[in-house]
Amino acid sequence: MSDNVNNEFCHYTVMLNEAVDGLDCQDGKIYIDATAGGGGHSYEIAKRISPNGRLISTDMDIEAINAACKKTEEFSDIIEIVQASYTEVPEIIKAREIDKITGGILFDLGASFHQLTSTERGFSFSKDAPLDMRFNSDDSFSAYDLINTYKEDELANVFRLYGEERFPGRIARRIVEERKKEPIKTTLQLANLIKASIPFSKGKIHPATRVFQAIRIEVNNELKNIEKAIKRIIPFLEKDARIVVISFHSLEDRLVKNLFKYYSSSCNCPPEQLICKCDPRQLEILTKKPIVASEEEVKLNPPSRSAKLRVAKKV
Ligand SMILES: C[S@@+](CC[C@H](N)C(=O)[O-])C[C@H]1O[C@@H](n2cnc3c(N)ncnc32)[C@H](O)[C@@H]1O
Repeated sequence: MSDNVNNEFCHYTVMLNEAVDGLDCQDGKIYIDATAGGGGHSYEIAKRISPNGRLISTDMDIEAINAACKKTEEFSDIIEIVQASYTEVPEIIKAREIDKITGGILFDLGASFHQLTSTERGFSFSKDAPLDMRFNSDDSFSAYDLINTYKEDELANVFRLYGEERFPGRIARRIVEERKKEPIKTTLQLANLIKASIPFSKGKIHPATRVFQAIRIEVNNELKNIEKAIKRIIPFLEKDARIVVISFHSLEDRLVKNLFKYYSSSCNCPPEQLICKCDPRQLEILTKKPIVASEEEVKLNPPSRSAKLRVAKKV
C-alpha cells in the first residue's frame, strides 16, 4: 500500500488527491476537514495551504482525533483538531471569530477502516463483541439500545431504509422474539439470529452485513447529520469556497446529489406558486457526474470501489 495508509490507526484514505484537488487548496485560506479520521486528507490539505492557511478538522471519535493529531503533527501551527460533530461547525468557527470559510469544507462520510475493524467497537461481526457502533463512545445511545428497545416496525424500517434489506420484517420479528427471553448483547449473537431468520444463499455476502450497516447509520444519525451539516454550513461559505463530499452508500450519495441540486437551482417553488419566494441560488455544481476511484486505487483498497465524490462551489 502507498504512503496514504496510516498503519497504527489503519485507515486507507480514499481519493486523496481527487478530494483535495476538489477543495482547490490555496495558501492563506481557511479550510475545514469535517471528518478527520486518521488525518490522511487533513495532512494533504495542510501541506497545500502552508504556511499561511488555516485548517480546522473535526471528528466525533477520540481515537480518530488522536490519530489525526499524530499524523499532522508537523503542521500543528496551522491545524486545530476538535472532537465534535460536523453539524457543529458553525458554532466551532464562530467561537474562533471566523466569519466565513474562505477555502472550503470536506466530508469523507461513513466509518473508518479502523472503526470497522476494531473488535471492541462492535461495528463488525467477524469477532464477538458488545453491540456498540457509536462513533463517539460518550454518546448515550448504542446498537444495544436500538436492538433491545426499538419496536418491531421501527427495526424493520431501519433495516429496509438504511440497509435496503430484502427481509426486514422477518429479521425484526426474530429479534423481538429473542429479546423477550434475554437481551441481545453481542455482535455474534445478533449476526447468528439474522442468519437464522432469512434464506441464505452460499457465496453471497453474509446476510447480517446490510443489517449491521443499517444499525450503524441509525445509531449515529448519519443521514440526518449530513443533511443538517450541509444545510447549516452553506451560509458560512465565502463566494467560491468549495464543498467536497465523498460518500460510500447510495442513500448518502443521493442525498448529497439532491441537496446540491436544490441549492444550485434558481427556483424550487411548487409550479402552482405564481411568485417565487426562493433565496438566491447558493451553489454551483462542479461535478455533473460523481468522480469515482481509479482502477489502481480500487486494486489497492477494494472498499474505495463504492466511493463517489461530488464537488460544488458557493456562488
Ligand atoms: C471515512 S472516515 C474519514 C477518514 C479520513 N478522511 C482520513 O483520511 O483518514 C470518516 C470519519 O468520520 C467520522 N464521523 C462520522 N460522523 C461524524 C460526525 N457527525 N461528525 C464528525 N465526524 C464524524 C468518523 O468518526 C470517522 O472517523
